[in-house]
Amino acid sequence: MKKVVLAYSGGLDTSVCIPLLREHYGYDEVIAVTVDVGQPEEELKEARVRAEKLSDSFVMVDAKQEFVHNCIFPLVKANGSYEGYVLGTAMARPLIARHVVEVALREGANALAHGCTGKGNDQLRFDAVFRTTDLEVIAPMRELSLTREEERRYAAEHGISFERNDGKDKDNDKNKRWSVDENMWSRSIEGSELEDPAFSPPEEVFRWTASIEEAPEEPELLQISFERGVPVSVNGTEQDGVALIKMLNAIGGKHGIGRTDMMEDRVLGFKAREIYEHPAATILLEAHRDLERLILTRNELRFKELVDRAWSELVYQGLVMDPLFDALNAFIDKTQERVNGTVYLKLNKGVARVVGRESPYALYSKEVSFDVKREQRTAEGFSLYHGFQSRLAAITRGGDK
Ligand code: ARG
Repeated sequence: MKKVVLAYSGGLDTSVCIPLLREHYGYDEVIAVTVDVGQPEEELKEARVRAEKLSDSFVMVDAKQEFVHNCIFPLVKANGSYEGYVLGTAMARPLIARHVVEVALREGANALAHGCTGKGNDQLRFDAVFRTTDLEVIAPMRELSLTREEERRYAAEHGISFERNDGKDKDNDKNKRWSVDENMWSRSIEGSELEDPAFSPPEEVFRWTASIEEAPEEPELLQISFERGVPVSVNGTEQDGVALIKMLNAIGGKHGIGRTDMMEDRVLGFKAREIYEHPAATILLEAHRDLERLILTRNELRFKELVDRAWSELVYQGLVMDPLFDALNAFIDKTQERVNGTVYLKLNKGVARVVGRESPYALYSKEVSFDVKREQRTAEGFSLYHGFQSRLAAITRGGDK
């Protein structure tokens, strides 16, 4: 009795994987696992309906709290961003993979499977976690290179319809020509015409954010408080992490905040055109970075930039089990001990602008920073040596001739 556990999203690729694992790979039992990291309710419901039809058994894991506390909040502390991408998909993959592994070990499965193709980053992120076990790793999409059309036909033969729909069905992303990956932190849209970097995305690809034109004229003020680098309240009201992120996505989205259209350097080396929506991420990252600038020393800030970047690269590559990742988090957590305070933002027409900040740990005070007149003279000695090496260089260059 050969058993395989599949990371299942409910979309075309992973749905096609289920019969393929039986018919092409010879597995007797396919267990589909869907991990809830804040996908739309509709998508989760669809995944359940399809999995119950196609697979032998279906497991749904609610990982929303875990996603917020173990992935999103560490990202905020690390100002996580890869070339401007807020890493939503990248962070979710290892978490999903870990839950799939857990089910596989519990069920005594022989293999692990995912529906990633051989072009993207996700295959690497899944594989990296899957290979921490000695179970077989199967990636039918990477191994069989089927076209979308072939997949649709194959799905139909197994009683699952994924009609091609050219964007008219507003409620069903998964059927559309775009490939969408959505969780609480970001929504990513790629594929089809969007693969042409020159193609301007039609408004219909966006679901979370209003266009600049649609966004209200009237700005909205927002107040976010942080404790140890983590957001804890909005406009003075304490919020649970999941609720806080949902709320900021709604408010920010209304103002058209957090749209990214970018060229991205994938791990394999090729450039890809990517479109993202992430209002809460934009707001929280703007606010957090600003608060750090009030609180951390210049030395801490400069060094932390390097750490933040290394952190983001590891997350992008799906190498969060590298011991370096733990070490970077330890450093980051140390710096965040003092990152308590409140940031004031103004949201308007696609921009979240910080308009004020305060903290009991601020390294700024009007009294201390600009002290009484008599002390200004002491700067003269400092100033005498400032630029000393530059002056000396100019003089020695004079000796060239
Ligand atoms: N390029 C991003 C990443 O590597 C997002 C990929 C999301 N996939 C999708 N089908 N939209 O994390």
